[in-house]
Amino acid sequence: MTILFKADSVVSGAEKWRATLKQRLPDMAFRTSDEPGDPADVEYVLCFRATPGTFTGMTNLKAILATGAGVDGLFLDPGLPECPIARIVDPWMAEQMVGWSVYAVHHFYRRFGDYAALQAEGTWFEYDDWEAAPPKVGLLGYGAIGAKVGAALQALRFDVATWTRSPRDIPGVASFSGPDGLMAFLGQTHFLICLLPLTPETEGILNARTLAALPKPAYLINLARGGHVVTADLVQALQSGTLAGAFLDVTEPEPLPPGHPLWSMPNVRITPHCSGPTNAATAADQVADNIRRAEAGRPMLNLVDRGRRY
Ligand code: GLV
Repeated sequence: MTILFKADSVVSGAEKWRATLKQRLPDMAFRTSDEPGDPADVEYVLCFRATPGTFTGMTNLKAILATGAGVDGLFLDPGLPECPIARIVDPWMAEQMVGWSVYAVHHFYRRFGDYAALQAEGTWFEYDDWEAAPPKVGLLGYGAIGAKVGAALQALRFDVATWTRSPRDIPGVASFSGPDGLMAFLGQTHFLICLLPLTPETEGILNARTLAALPKPAYLINLARGGHVVTADLVQALQSGTLAGAFLDVTEPEPLPPGHPLWSMPNVRITPHCSGPTNAATAADQVADNIRRAEAGRPMLNLVDRGRRY
């Protein structure tokens, strides 16, 4: 069987994938986009993003194995073949994103940015403006990753709410859903964490109108996709005080160009799309398992619903 690995600025490491998959599927032929060979040989493609033409000539393609949790990048190709698509659902990745989210919330909640500024000027000063009520965190999206982030923050006694497509019944969590529930959800959220899939419905969901619905102070923590946010509206909200701060692992455009205002705002922290890296060592089991399943004519796991795009 022939597998083609397409590296990307987000998911690279072809040699690691080759080595980890070879252990699990010793008979496979592993190709990379540098040496793709005859596209008609390719039966499985491993990729994070597809550009137009990625699948040209792959007349024997059996499945696409996305190398990430989010598959929006595949739908960039209007020629995306009609074969099954599976995505990565890896507890290790989710745990990394839990750690990143908890850090980001605490950056603002425990004023680490403010203390860094005080340290820079050599000032020993303690802010003592604690609220008695637990801080309200709102999770946009509650999938495999959102559920773990929510549970971790609940364990730290944050007051967690979620906004999802359809209503959820989660113990101890206020559930908001659908377009009608969005503004009410935002109205009570001080720490807004975006973990949504990027789809035509969620693109630009954070814009001047929705950001203005947040109470003060409010902070945006985005580890989903830059496309969820209208960047010009975010900059404006940060400049005007509508938003007190933002912690961004993803941006639009990505990477941000030199000199972009977000780079230098004191109330913004940026990391380079690294909150939940795809780890070949932990993800290869499910990729190999899905290939074995497809070869045996059994359904793959973690299949993407093409209508929903996640
Ligand atoms: C990374 O962004 C992923 O979707 O896995």
